[in-house]
Amino acid sequence: MSEMTQIGMTQSEMTQSEMTQSEIRQRDSTQTDSTQTEPLLEIAMRVNGVVNTARAPARRLLSDFLRHELRLTGTHVGCEHGVCGACTVLVDGTPMRSCLMFAVTAQDHEITTVEGLADSGDGAGESTMSPVQQAFIECHGLQCGFCTPGFLTTITAYLQENPEPTETDAREAISGNLCRCTGYQNIVKSVLRAAELTRERGAGE
Ligand code: FES
Ligand code: FES
Repeated sequence: MSEMTQIGMTQSEMTQSEMTQSEIRQRDSTQTDSTQTEPLLEIAMRVNGVVNTARAPARRLLSDFLRHELRLTGTHVGCEHGVCGACTVLVDGTPMRSCLMFAVTAQDHEITTVEGLADSGDGAGESTMSPVQQAFIECHGLQCGFCTPGFLTTITAYLQENPEPTETDAREAISGNLCRCTGYQNIVKSVLRAAELTRERGAGE
């Protein structure tokens, strides 16, 4: 008998404790789909300028709805508890943790994910990196890139309200997002460079 069983856990509890939350959710979802006991709702929202409709249970998180129903996997899921910021998307222009929202609450709202940040250009297939994306490239603001979609959406919204941040402002702006590669110095530089690029592009118009 293992040590865990000795302190009172059943075999099924042990199995559950060893599963990640995603694995548990996937298991639950498979069971639900196979038995079809859970009603599915038709959920419509405008994502990156296009109205999307898909069916999902009322409990489907917005992060999962974007990734699984709409196949927009640029939105990453890290902690699933509203802490890391990896899942941040813009809801009507405001950064929100999509792991803390049900998809149904985004019904009829305007969602911007990382896939929607680039300027889609003139429709001829050419797209242009947004100033924030360009700044991350120039300043090496990412390492593994897992946290990056959340930083990009957060900073995009921040600069719209604060176009001329100081370094202190930039640090404050990203303080709600975690980077496991600890690349914060270059992310701060990216915020300042993105502000510069935004001003340059604005002046060129
Ligand atoms: S996955 Fe949503 S805040 Fe971490
Ligand atoms: S670049 Fe790896 S977690 Fe931030």
